[in-house]
Amino acid sequence: MDYYRELTLQNGQTCILKTASADDAADVLRNLRLTSQETDNMLRCADEITLTEEQERVYLAGVERSSDAILICAVVDGVLAGAAGFNPVGTAERCRHRAEFGISVQRKFWGMGIGTAALAAVVDAARQAGYEQLELDVVVSNRRAIALYQKFGFIKYGLHPGGFRYRDGHYEDLFLMLLPL
Ligand SMILES: CC(C)(COP(=O)(O)OP(=O)(O)OC[C@H]1O[C@@H](n2cnc3c(N)ncnc32)[C@H](O)[C@@H]1OP(=O)(O)O)[C@@H](O)C(=O)NCCC(=O)NCCS
Repeated sequence: MDYYRELTLQNGQTCILKTASADDAADVLRNLRLTSQETDNMLRCADEITLTEEQERVYLAGVERSSDAILICAVVDGVLAGAAGFNPVGTAERCRHRAEFGISVQRKFWGMGIGTAALAAVVDAARQAGYEQLELDVVVSNRRAIALYQKFGFIKYGLHPGGFRYRDGHYEDLFLMLLPL
């Protein structure tokens, strides 16, 4: 799926939102590793992100060609600052109306409106792809992300107790959230 938009951030910098292509593989992996290190709110530990650049290239080329998934990069002054996208929840007919959402913006770019712009782009793309629901899990203490999702109309529909187990042995609950599209 194709997406391209330029916007001016709250601090006056220009941000390009565009569909990730195979050539973005190294930057996408770097963003994922960095954002996985910066907070405890991502699914994976940074050292679990073991895809090679070549594997990521193949993955991104497939996503770019697909009509049911997208990854949008946010590029600020030539630097990939974050990424957001969705994938189908599953291939079964009964859940083809549902897509899973994910987003990660590097800490030094927080609070500039990138998350808001990227989520708006993903919501548009998900509607265009024919999805009816966009869903996600979020750590209950991740107030910034929850505020972002609620701003777009995501509702909390459940709680997954102890959904994340960390290496130090403690657990965190996850809110289950969805946006009717
Ligand atoms: C969550 C995340 C995507 C937000 O990105 P961002 O670029 O900072 O988002 P924005 O600048 O558009 O701000 C979005 C909203 O966050 C909220 N927010 C901003 N600063 C906040 C703060 N200090 N505390 C709580 N909420 C805050 C506001 O509601 C803001 O919207 P508003 O400016 O219209 O009021 C980003 O922090 C991130 O990637 N975090 C790490 C990875 C992560 O947690 N991913 C989500 C996993 S479910």
